[in-house]
Amino acid sequence: MRFLVLISIEMVAVSWMAAGSPLVTFAGQKDPAEVERLFLAGEAGAGDFRVVAAFPELLDHRPVQIKVFRSLASKDPEIFRAAVGLCLEAPRLESFAMIRRRLSLAFRSQDAWKRKAILQLARDEPERLRDLRFVSLLSEALRDPDPALAELALALIRSRPELRDLPAISEGLTRLPGEGPATELALPSLQFFRDRVLPLLQTVGADDKSCFDCHKSHVIFRLEPAPERAGPEDVQGYYRSALRVIDLKRPEQSLMLLKPTREKPPPGTQASGSEQHGGGVRWDRESASFRTLLEWVQTGGD
Ligand code: HEC
Repeated sequence: MRFLVLISIEMVAVSWMAAGSPLVTFAGQKDPAEVERLFLAGEAGAGDFRVVAAFPELLDHRPVQIKVFRSLASKDPEIFRAAVGLCLEAPRLESFAMIRRRLSLAFRSQDAWKRKAILQLARDEPERLRDLRFVSLLSEALRDPDPALAELALALIRSRPELRDLPAISEGLTRLPGEGPATELALPSLQFFRDRVLPLLQTVGADDKSCFDCHKSHVIFRLEPAPERAGPEDVQGYYRSALRVIDLKRPEQSLMLLKPTREKPPPGTQASGSEQHGGGVRWDRESASFRTLLEWVQTGGD
């Protein structure tokens, strides 16, 4: 184990050699204190974030966390991208509320350069496209007014044909001229969504909250604006957001149906996967709401 760790540090050091990072030498010497000192002093370069990732113990240090937090709002695209990359490589950083919030803001940013920087992370490591935050960003980027961003999104999708089966991506593609049908899987009905699903998302539970109340600023299942301020085209926005959390091949496995059947995670911890839901139980599998949602998902598929 120790051996593996040393190898990976060595590899980090070598791979960043070309970046001319001042920390490279220190990563080579494997002195975490020195790595930390240099990371915190002055302007750390983008490569330095990767070096820090090789020393997970440093991520528990408050000054390191603050530096990551600040860098997530950096105006320098390289630093911004490196900070987002570090958070993705070390998901533990998201257990700190301030970092979690800023990462969420980064993913929701309307700035084309930030969206581009994040998508570049997926281009460098395509495995990241399994993360629904990337899928959300990717599907939105397809319709971005900045042609370079839309182009980058399209290139990423072309490099991973299986992405076309995801309803959110498929919906984005069908709107692009010349792309043709994205997949064999039909999208679920917008009409059914408007008439029967939307009212469920607005229904308050025992805690006096509806899906809308909690989901306005989510990266993935984002329900914005509030229904009372919504125009007719906003319904399509809610619909597109819902497409990110459904599974057309296995409708019952859709996150949108499953999450609300799950308990809250223990205090101080984050809900993970489909096993827990930050908003707690909203309905059970026998409920009319669950069945209506299932019926809606089944209006799509093959
Ligand atoms: C009291 C607040 C609250 C309510 C109400 C709530 N949620 Fe959530 N939901 C959360 C939080 C927090 C998360 C993020 C943690 C997680 O993954 O569970 C989340 C996550 C999700 C996710 C995963 C995607 C994402 O955006 O993170 C889905 C899907 C989801 N909720 C569906 C629903 C549906 C459908 C309803 C209404 C029936 C609902 N939620 C109501 C708080 C809430």
